[in-house]
Amino acid sequence: MDTPTLLQIIEAIPVGVILAHKDGKINYANKAALKCLKINIKSIHGVDIMSLFPSLPGKRETIIRIRDNQKIPVRVTTLQLPSGEKAIIITDITEIHQLQKEILKMDRLASLGELTSGIAHEIRNPLAGIKTTAQALNEDIGEYDHRKTYVSRIIMEIDRLNQLLLNFFDFARPRALKIRSCNAQKIIEDSVYMVKEKAKENHIQIIEFYPPHKVELKADPDMIQQVLINIFINAIQAMGSRGKVEVQLIDKVESIEITVNDSGKGIPENIRNRIFEPFFTTKAKGVGLGLSISYRIIKMHAGNISFDTSPSGTTFKIGLPKE
Ligand SMILES: Nc1ncnc2c1ncn2[C@@H]1O[C@H](COP(=O)(O)OP(=O)(O)OP(=O)(O)O)[C@@H](O)[C@H]1O
Ligand SMILES: [Mg+2]
Repeated sequence: MDTPTLLQIIEAIPVGVILAHKDGKINYANKAALKCLKINIKSIHGVDIMSLFPSLPGKRETIIRIRDNQKIPVRVTTLQLPSGEKAIIITDITEIHQLQKEILKMDRLASLGELTSGIAHEIRNPLAGIKTTAQALNEDIGEYDHRKTYVSRIIMEIDRLNQLLLNFFDFARPRALKIRSCNAQKIIEDSVYMVKEKAKENHIQIIEFYPPHKVELKADPDMIQQVLINIFINAIQAMGSRGKVEVQLIDKVESIEITVNDSGKGIPENIRNRIFEPFFTTKAKGVGLGLSISYRIIKMHAGNISFDTSPSGTTFKIGLPKE
């Protein structure tokens, strides 16, 4: 085998090399440099190197603008050779840049999460005190005293705030899954049970469909139940005061599918790609965490969640692997 020449080696390395005459006119660029600058050798030949990399010499990270005003982050080392010629070593650091940005974003989110869950935690203690006091007051007030409605209202709002904080904790610090063998039908039945009263109040019928045999899966039943409750509550809220929710369990051998269909008003097209975002809500009293928590739980189970919607109703579909 022939020994490669220096030039062949320079052509093959993944680092960009650009050479210029004493007068600064570029006379050579290797493949990696052309790729990084998205340019061909003809268009770079004879170009003044100072117009591309103004501050020579040195080593630094910078953003260069190439054709179509596209910006690329690069690491550049510029050398003044003893012969008076100039050399530039250039590396595209787009990926590193991207990763750095991601890390910074995650870092910020993590500290924000920590701060807010700290505050949320501190709110819960005085809240418990307020509730106990309100309950004592409630017992002191006579059955027919008109002030009883005020106190009940206070207690109700405290409960709502408490629930909000609990949701928030789930979101800020999701607990680890406790996977075990469970009966899929039982999880659905338990979830339906939890929203039965709410449905009844709104004259909403919940109809369940199950396969004739027992369907087992390995999952965290409490978490799956939480997902179903979120979806049922959304369904009930989408319908106002009358309607029907159909929930169906389908056994797909390797996986299971749970569909929840409501006869509500549907999800408007312009918000369809946002409903899984944390804190996205269209409800006056909504927090906007229900679906984002659900999404995360299903993903933690290596499952998937999707929906179909029209002005006559919405169907949420959850797929979960059995193992
Ligand atoms: N079945 C549904 N029918 C119509 N719109 C829905 C349905 N489910 C969700 N949405 C829309 O998606 C939004 C986000 O739902 P999500 O459950 O995440 O938050 P939320 O219900 O508004 O508040 P939270 O669940 O935290 O109390 C809702 O505000 C609503 O606009
Ligand atoms: Mg919700």
